[in-house]
Amino acid sequence: MQPSGAQHNPEVLMFFDKDTATFSYVVKDPSSNACAIIDSVMSIDYPSGTISYEGADRIIAFIKEQQLDVQWLIETHVHADHLSAAPYIQERTGGKLGIGALITTVQEVFGTIFNTGSEFKRDGSQFDHLFADGETYQVGNLQARAMHTPGHTPACMTHVIGDAAFVGDTLFMPDQGTARADFPGGSAHTLFRSIHKVLSLPSETRLFMCHDYPETRAVAYETTVAEQKAGNIHVKDGTREEDYVHKREARDATLGMPRLILPSLQINMRAGHMPPAENNNRVYLKLPINAFKH
Ligand SMILES: [Fe+2]
Repeated sequence: MQPSGAQHNPEVLMFFDKDTATFSYVVKDPSSNACAIIDSVMSIDYPSGTISYEGADRIIAFIKEQQLDVQWLIETHVHADHLSAAPYIQERTGGKLGIGALITTVQEVFGTIFNTGSEFKRDGSQFDHLFADGETYQVGNLQARAMHTPGHTPACMTHVIGDAAFVGDTLFMPDQGTARADFPGGSAHTLFRSIHKVLSLPSETRLFMCHDYPETRAVAYETTVAEQKAGNIHVKDGTREEDYVHKREARDATLGMPRLILPSLQINMRAGHMPPAENNNRVYLKLPINAFKH
């Protein structure tokens, strides 16, 4: 039996990774024990190359404690600022790992930059499911829809689940503006149009951020379409595309690469898996010289 009224909307539990300012979410159907996990984080101590799973273990403990049935592990995009813990969690909870269908474009670009061998397939097959634009799916009795929102990267998806939208790196909180659009395959023009797709959702839609980098207030992760339209410093109502693009590109020109971009891309383009171990049984990541702007 389908639930009625407000029960069509998910309960959203946020888990914060302080080191990378990333929000992970458990999105739960209130009418069953079904849930989805969005954008989980694996920790890395970069100077020593040590991987750990404190944040992922917190999510797993919550899932076990609440006896939730993980149906989906979703990556909104190939993140450049943190490493995904999706395979680690999936091994312990089950669920299907999904990302946007244009992951193949991202894999082509970064497979080339990192000069991967034939072991790295550029066909998205490391994931269980590739979401097409507009594709609908369910989390228990919740209706969900994947919405292609490129610009930050070519494969970015916003996932709309009931009255909640998980926007990935498109919008930030209204006082923080929008995500950068200068990575390979990024485009400020494209991002502006994608953001307008998000802002065309009903005004009361709850928007859940992927990151927040406030300087003077506490960290925040939830806002609404109405609040973004009224006050987003980059794209509020009335902002023209050319003005946005000018502002976005000027700002991007001042930004250095994210601290964890090199390990993040090599692992996230593999759906959170490490590259194969070398003949001494140890895993290595590459540091390509002069491949990214500084
Ligand atoms: Fe990102």
